Amino acid sequence: MDLYFEKINLAADFLRQNGIGHVDTAVILGSGLGEFAESLQSPSIIPYQEIPGFPVSTVKGHAGRLVYGILNGKKVLAMQGRFHYYEGYPMNDVVFPIRVMAVLGIKQLLVTNAAGGVNESFSSAQLMLITDHINFMGTNPLIGQNLDTLGPRFPDMSHAYFKKGQELVKAAASDLHIPLQEGVYAAFTGPSYETPAEIRMARIWGADAVGMSTVPEVIVANQAGIAVIGISCITNMAAGLQKNLNHEEVVQASASVKDDFKALLSAVITAL
Ligand code: HPA
Repeated sequence: MDLYFEKINLAADFLRQNGIGHVDTAVILGSGLGEFAESLQSPSIIPYQEIPGFPVSTVKGHAGRLVYGILNGKKVLAMQGRFHYYEGYPMNDVVFPIRVMAVLGIKQLLVTNAAGGVNESFSSAQLMLITDHINFMGTNPLIGQNLDTLGPRFPDMSHAYFKKGQELVKAAASDLHIPLQEGVYAAFTGPSYETPAEIRMARIWGADAVGMSTVPEVIVANQAGIAVIGISCITNMAAGLQKNLNHEEVVQASASVKDDFKALLSAVITAL
């Protein structure tokens, strides 16, 4: 575990040496949503494979790099591509970048993802503000010896997505006339999509959307005292609510909302 902490510090030192200074907001860009990073001015680009300790992303549509740049005067650190549990990474790797962010002193994190709609009033190619989450992954990234320097053993998750951040997203969407759903995101491990029975269960248990990411990162961010905002792109209706599911549709739907998505992210980051 001490080695793990050393690895986190090494990665943070490397990023500092490579010009990553103050960060107003960090952003994790989900499947098909990476293009937002191209709107950052004076970007420094650091591929994950150059950062000591960083795992390397393998999913199509994930560039696997950090982009540090400026947006309307705000310093932004964007992750183009994340590490999924279903890729075979241990949880410690999945949340490694968040721990590096914590050591860098980052206080605000905007997480995004592609998700399936479970709430029948949703439709594909809509954006959803994440108000809370359900961890259906069957594990937790904090299992194991606690790194007390990074946060408490039993972190409070009562305000996993901070209220002021949620209000800011709603106000920005309203100003920009971007339709915005809101709801609870439930994370399954994947990589198979859920069955219709699992989706019915998720709905009864309070989910509005399902996906295969985000929850581990949000748990670790909360433990470290980082304030989190979450936005899902509903790329499809979940299993049983539409005929079939496939990854191509997910990629296409995220492409079709990318202009709204980019505009909303810019407005939120500027206002934060
Ligand atoms: N289920 C899980 N993850 C997803 C989905 C889904 O329907 N759509 C996009 N990511």
